Amino acid sequence: MNAHNKNILNGLPGDDRGLAPGEARCPGRTVQDIIATDLHPAPDVLKQQSYRYLGSEDVPFARYTGKEFFAAELEQVWSKVWQWACRLEHIPQVGDYYVYEIGPYSILVVNTPKGIKAYHNSCLHRGTKLKPEEGMGSSDQLRCPFHGWTWSLEGELVSVPCAWDFPHAKPEEFKLPEVRVGLWGGFVFINLDENAENLESYLQELPEHFKDWDMEHRFTELHVAKELPCNWKAAVEAFLEAYHVIETHPQLLPGTNDANVQYDTYSQHITRFYSASGTSSPHLERPLSEQELVDAMLIGDRSMVNDELQVREGETARIVMARFLRKLMGEKYQVDLDHFSDAEIIDTIEYHVFPNMVLFPGLSLPMVYRFRPLGCDPDRSLFEILFLRPFAPGTERPEAPEVAMVKEEESYAVAEGLDPYLAHVYDQDTSNMRAQQQGFKAAKKQGETLGNYQEVRIRHFHKVLDGYLQQS
Ligand code: FES
Ligand SMILES: [Fe+2]
Repeated sequence: MNAHNKNILNGLPGDDRGLAPGEARCPGRTVQDIIATDLHPAPDVLKQQSYRYLGSEDVPFARYTGKEFFAAELEQVWSKVWQWACRLEHIPQVGDYYVYEIGPYSILVVNTPKGIKAYHNSCLHRGTKLKPEEGMGSSDQLRCPFHGWTWSLEGELVSVPCAWDFPHAKPEEFKLPEVRVGLWGGFVFINLDENAENLESYLQELPEHFKDWDMEHRFTELHVAKELPCNWKAAVEAFLEAYHVIETHPQLLPGTNDANVQYDTYSQHITRFYSASGTSSPHLERPLSEQELVDAMLIGDRSMVNDELQVREGETARIVMARFLRKLMGEKYQVDLDHFSDAEIIDTIEYHVFPNMVLFPGLSLPMVYRFRPLGCDPDRSLFEILFLRPFAPGTERPEAPEVAMVKEEESYAVAEGLDPYLAHVYDQDTSNMRAQQQGFKAAKKQGETLGNYQEVRIRHFHKVLDGYLQQS
């Protein structure tokens, strides 16, 4: 690496090399350069790039701390957007339900004989929540725990104790008010706005991008949740860029192209990042050999290491690792992964669906994240991680696991089934949250200064948020 390049990587800004804002990129191989030499070529959707410069002005910290801003989000965003409430595996049978809570709102999603419906989780007698806690359960009817008013799964009032006292509660006027429901990719979405556009149009490019990534035939293998001492947007944003890898996760530098990750902004609700595995970080002093890269990519159980992981003449680390994981995961989950490209097997591909869903279609890091405010506190949020693994079409959908709760002060290592290496990465990610939220309030300079390229998804996120907040 020459001195000029080194200065761009870690130096002082100022040398714009005559480029327009947003045009500069880290020296080194791009994601597109890297995937171009794969044995099983990446699909067209991964060969696309979609970046647009969105400005360089600061984003005010008041957006993360202000009570008024938070109240506006509840009214103008959370009560207007499509958000996923649960997966189909949470409510596989008629009578199964899932309570999803967001700010002050509580939504009861129910599998009924007439399909999946959702209701406002509040009794029409004196308001008690019909199902008091977030999470999954099962019941034949929806019975209020206070006085026992009871509705059918389809929301018809079927029984009122001492009905003689309520001649004014006409059953036809006392159906449970419904919340809109939409299904996509095995996710059940809800929208509190009766006049919202339909889910399919809300998801914009997503269904087209995912047409060969069958999220419906995936199941939740592991579900981990942790409360974070920060605003929900700060929590989301910690996962929208790889710029923090060099400082927060230095152990990931071998085998990751952190500073050359590709960032894409699409329509209003969809952005993406694409990180190619099996390549050296441009921050490393010297590039790793292909065999060293394979060794660096091996996370988790090293007992499986064998001859299959030797890089042979003419092969790359990506080819070797993709072949290995294709076979290993295919056998473990009893699915045929032969039609997947090397990129889909080994790379970190991450979509953000506004406002709070982050979705990884790749097979070796197959997560979905959900970020929400906790109750009505702008300083706290809930971060959930679900690992979605494939299951063979025609076989029964595996049951959903209970949520593994990690306390705020605990390490992710307490979550049974979570790879210790990943637990450490999540500990690193969440360790900055309290300091950032407190720093927002301690600041003299009242806004964050974002990178034009690597942090463009954060800027895009705020622009879309503004669009919702400005609607009357
Ligand atoms: S509040 Fe629900 S039955 Fe009385
Ligand atoms: Fe991270």
